[in-house]
Order: sequence, then structure tokens, then C-alpha cells
Amino acid sequence: MDHSTTDTPKTLAAMAVDVLTTADGRAKTAKSRTYAAQWKAARAAGEIIEIGEATPPDHPARPDKPDLLSPRDVPKRKPGSPAGRIALLHAVAHIELNAVDLHWDIIARFTDVPMPMGFYDDWVQAADEESNHFNMMCDCLEAMDSHYGALPAHAGMWRAAIDTSDDLLGRLAIVPMVLEARGLDVTPGMIKIFQNAKETQAVGCLETIYAEEVSHVAYGSKWFNFLCGRDNIDPKEEFHKLVRHYFKGGLKPPFNEEKRADAGLPPDFYWPLADQYPAHVR
Ligand SMILES: [Fe+2]
Ligand SMILES: [Fe+2]
Repeated sequence: MDHSTTDTPKTLAAMAVDVLTTADGRAKTAKSRTYAAQWKAARAAGEIIEIGEATPPDHPARPDKPDLLSPRDVPKRKPGSPAGRIALLHAVAHIELNAVDLHWDIIARFTDVPMPMGFYDDWVQAADEESNHFNMMCDCLEAMDSHYGALPAHAGMWRAAIDTSDDLLGRLAIVPMVLEARGLDVTPGMIKIFQNAKETQAVGCLETIYAEEVSHVAYGSKWFNFLCGRDNIDPKEEFHKLVRHYFKGGLKPPFNEEKRADAGLPPDFYWPLADQYPAHVR
């Protein structure tokens, strides 16, 4: 399929594929935000943008830089130093860019599963917010005389998408309800690091990210429960089964129980999957 056309895509799935096949980060997020605005305007006006069908790429297009390394080869830097803080923001920028693609991918990949329009509203909204998160992280890096692409980044972040490419319940369990929920656990510590360094721009951006990520986890939980309810499946049992199947190594406490609760993730979903949970209660 030729993705080089500059025609405005007519369906939401085609918009998603256009974002996924755009390599440059800023160009990707610009398209993402434009399409999100078009979708929201159409929905507010009661107009219909068809969901349509399109074939998302196995891997989203990515810029030449950053180099993608296996996690054990990405150099560890101390967060107490300016270089360490740049590395931290660079890692967050990389996560956000992946998140943009993940949200557009869930829109385009599962169009064969009939879903209410609210499902698309939610992931368009999440993709729009991730695009802003990526742009904010780029702005912070540039204010610190760096940029996205200046450092190597983790390869393998698309692994979860590949593993769950034909399993919508699995995708919801792993991406928003495990990976994005993990973001809720670790972001307060990250904000502390930048507060201690008096890096106010980064603190402000990370606080926005922290606030908005709650809703992404909540969207995951909402649609996971919806699908389980539609198929008369026990959501907790299903979640445990899917996470054990797709996610190796167990979940890492401490958990941000308050924000997880805000996002509709009860403790009996995640505690039994923790890597430090007494074996007899598994
Ligand atoms: Fe984000
Ligand atoms: Fe997110």
C-alpha cells in the first residue's frame, strides 16, 4: 500500500495508519493531533467519520535516530546529574512516541471487533494526549541542549503490540492495564528528581503526564471490563490469565494503589501477579 499520499484520510483507520507510517516524531505527533481534532470536531457536530478498515504496519515507522538497543545495552546514567536527567527525559520521550503509535494501532488493528463509538473516542483522546506528552518531552530536552534522538533508546517496546496483535483483550490487559499502570507507579519518583534539581519545566510537563495517564489506564480497564461482560467472562480471572501469558516476569511493587483505584484497577487484579507476592496466595 502506498502511504506517501498527502490526501486527507477519509476514515479513522486510514488516519491511524497514516500516523503509524510517519517516521519523524514531530511529524507523527502533528498528524496525530490534527486527526484527533478532526475526529473530535466531527463527533461534536454529530457528523460521521467512518471507522473503516486499513492495514496497520507490523512495526510503526520510526526516525533514523535514536539508535534502538536492547535494554541491557542502554547505558545507565545517575539521575543526580544533568546528563542523567536528560537521559530520563529521553527515555520518557521514547515511551510517549511508542504510546502514540500504540493508541493509533489499537484503533486500526481491531476494526473487525464491533465496538461502541466511545471506544474510538477514548483512544483518539489518549493518542492526542500522548502526542502532546512527546512534544513536551522534546521541548524539555531541547531546553537542556539535547533532543530526542541524541541518545540510544530501548528496542523492543513494540513487543507487546506484536504479541497481542490478534487479541484485543490481551492488548488491553498488557498495554494500558499493565504498562501504562506501571507509569502511574514510577512517575511520582521521577517528578521528585526534577523538583530536587529545580527543573521546573520538566516538573510541570511530568505532572501533566501523570494526571493524564490515569485516564489511559481507565480506558483500558473500562473496555476490558466491557468486553468481558459482553462475553460473560470473569474479568479478574481473564486479566490474570492474559498477563501471565503475555507478560513475563511478574508485576513490580510498590504499586500506586490510589491512582490505580482512580483508573478502575482494583488491588485483586494486580497484587496476585506481583513478583513479590507470597507464593501460597497465587
Ligand atoms: Fe503519555
Ligand atoms: Fe498513556
